Amino acid sequence: MTTKIPTLLASLLLLLCLAACTRQPSDDTAATTPRLIPMPANLETKDGSFVIDAKTPVVADGEAAQRVARQFIDMLAATGAVQPKIGGSGSGIRFVLDEAQAGASPEAYSLDITADGITIAASSEAGLYYGAVTLWQLLTSGESNGPVRLPALHIEDAPRFAWRGLMLDSARHFQSVEDIEKLLDAMALHKLNVFHWHLTDDQGWRIEIKRYPKLTEVGSCRIPAGDGGIDPDSGELVPYCGYYSQDQIRDIVAYAAARHITVVPEIDVPGHATAAIAAYPQLGTTDQPLLPVGEWGVFSNLFNVEEPTLEFLENVLAEVADLFPGAYVHIGGDEAVKDQWEASARVQARMKEFGVDNEMAMQGVLVARLEKFLAARGKRLIGWDEILEGGLPAEATVMSWRGTEGGIEAANQGHDVVMSPWNKLYLDYLQTASTDEPPGRPTLVTLQDVYAFEPVPEELDADKRRHILGLQANVWTEHMRSFTRVQHAIFPRIAALAETGWSPAAYKDYADFLIRLPAQLHRYRALGIDYARTPFQVVFDTKADRVAGTAEIALSNPAGYADIRYSTDGSAPTEASPAYAEPLSLPLPVHLRAAAFFEGAALEAPDALDIDATSLLARNDEQLAMCTNALMLRLEDDGPLRGERALFNVDIFNPCWEWKQADLRGIGGLRVRAGRIPYYFQLAHDEPGRKFHPATTANGELVVRDGCEGPTLATLPLPAQPDADGFVTLETPLAAAGDSADLCIYFTGDTRPTMWALDRVELRPN
Ligand code: ACM
Repeated sequence: MTTKIPTLLASLLLLLCLAACTRQPSDDTAATTPRLIPMPANLETKDGSFVIDAKTPVVADGEAAQRVARQFIDMLAATGAVQPKIGGSGSGIRFVLDEAQAGASPEAYSLDITADGITIAASSEAGLYYGAVTLWQLLTSGESNGPVRLPALHIEDAPRFAWRGLMLDSARHFQSVEDIEKLLDAMALHKLNVFHWHLTDDQGWRIEIKRYPKLTEVGSCRIPAGDGGIDPDSGELVPYCGYYSQDQIRDIVAYAAARHITVVPEIDVPGHATAAIAAYPQLGTTDQPLLPVGEWGVFSNLFNVEEPTLEFLENVLAEVADLFPGAYVHIGGDEAVKDQWEASARVQARMKEFGVDNEMAMQGVLVARLEKFLAARGKRLIGWDEILEGGLPAEATVMSWRGTEGGIEAANQGHDVVMSPWNKLYLDYLQTASTDEPPGRPTLVTLQDVYAFEPVPEELDADKRRHILGLQANVWTEHMRSFTRVQHAIFPRIAALAETGWSPAAYKDYADFLIRLPAQLHRYRALGIDYARTPFQVVFDTKADRVAGTAEIALSNPAGYADIRYSTDGSAPTEASPAYAEPLSLPLPVHLRAAAFFEGAALEAPDALDIDATSLLARNDEQLAMCTNALMLRLEDDGPLRGERALFNVDIFNPCWEWKQADLRGIGGLRVRAGRIPYYFQLAHDEPGRKFHPATTANGELVVRDGCEGPTLATLPLPAQPDADGFVTLETPLAAAGDSADLCIYFTGDTRPTMWALDRVELRPN
């Protein structure tokens, strides 16, 4: 609980202080619960407190403890917080590394704050570092850059899981070394310890391999689909390129190690291999020449299984094993559709040689060979859960992404497991339904979803639970052209991930996490992290009657902050504004402003809802429902190369939008603005799920129905091309449909190679 000093008394204290002292920490700081994420395993508050200021000495004996002390000072400097000084004597902060104290966890530490000073002790440098992170969090829980009074406490802490991971896909989009280092910094400050680096895919090979230079000469560049790959001025093709040199990789590995993060490299086999096959066609299963792919999805190109290809993979893994000192190498194994192997006489002949009668088992032979090769170099193989299907060496570890079932099966077979189910821990899925979300997958993985995920399934027998090494969130970057978008996807959900990875299961409490999160957001801002603002916005759910001129509006906050303040006169709400309690009934026009508050401060800039009888006649694609949920995307246009791109909420397997219970009183027609975007996907065996209505005229039609199976209200031929801006506006009368209809709007014609997508629909009065 925060204690608030009455304003008059506070002013008096301030005056006294100005007269008699330099800045003193307020007692407010001392009274609050520690704003730590992840929450430590054991925390006891004690009587008394200790003040840290710029003169507080920081003492550390030995090289390792001094290294941690310097990192601690750097963390404080990066957040603009109070900076005690290394060295000196007297009561201060002590870092004590005592290897003899080794406990059960090599990452454990203790932290004691008493009136006499602060001691962080651990048996390993990693433990000491995590203790430093905890103390840094205690010192950066508020806005102060001056002295901080910390309440006395005793923390005894160790992580719940040994694998607390984050995966970044640097193949679909490339991040600079500086971006990766910024991410590693942030991971360490969340006590995450595994950076899984997805370095190869159909769209790019991003790791320099000395023995095979064409992997990066050819494989690191693709021509993006459509306009995104064409210079509008010269008309020339513009490749998208990037790879990490071995020197850069060594730097990143060292940077991570200094923060107690192990880098797990992924070389994906036998699928997601187009970029490698483009570089060395002899590695492929067909004779078809390939280029690194400029589209997204699942491609059928697989490595062949000839001996020279297996040796190639071993040679690549040999360089990878030398570059990455960690125990694990990830060999992918996901989404390797076997069409090419099934059709290849050579692969079928090789399967006979290996004595296997199905292609999954052939993949098992490949995995077993690579496992043996890696084991001989002291490495452990890890792969996506598909590798279970081909039979798996006992030592292999499974990363369960298609759900937790693969992980359960693997653990039951005695394999170690990392849980990273797509519907709980895939951060390319959007986190809120806000229209401010960037492109991505609109099937939501909310902050609450990430927080609630439990890596050890109840159905797993007690003696198998030890196989669950931990959890990992994955960031696939098809829709993340910038590092800003990568950060938006990761933060703040990484904070929820961190708490599940570190804190005891019994300690987890989402309501309490929400109390601690604003301090973490403050640290993000201080560190220049572009975290997602959307979970902290206010969402308006509006039911309006434009004829009666009234609206009923429900307010909510996606993260779950309950203190929502609003104004109805267009002014920014303050702490003193009315608190939202129940849906608001307001006359039109509405000029609502609202923000979620925590401890008297708005979490975000206010959100605005401005509606009147005219604006209620229009909706954009984001305000409409999709008719189906076959493959929903918040999809960005492929171009232009430079500048803003249009965004469409579209189910690419059935582009169709619904305006449910549209109020048609006094309405005689419809105006539709539509854009046209390339269908830049290949989805292998899922492709038959792609549906479209056949066109009946040359360029297809816009069709409006009352319910998607109901009577047709309008049909209008489409033009051959959109206008120069990529859009077209069409107007049509609407057949009489009564006062209300579930408007179902779609475009006929093949969605390949281009598809129309709804941008905005407007009801036209009679
Ligand atoms: C995956 O998401 N294909 C592992």
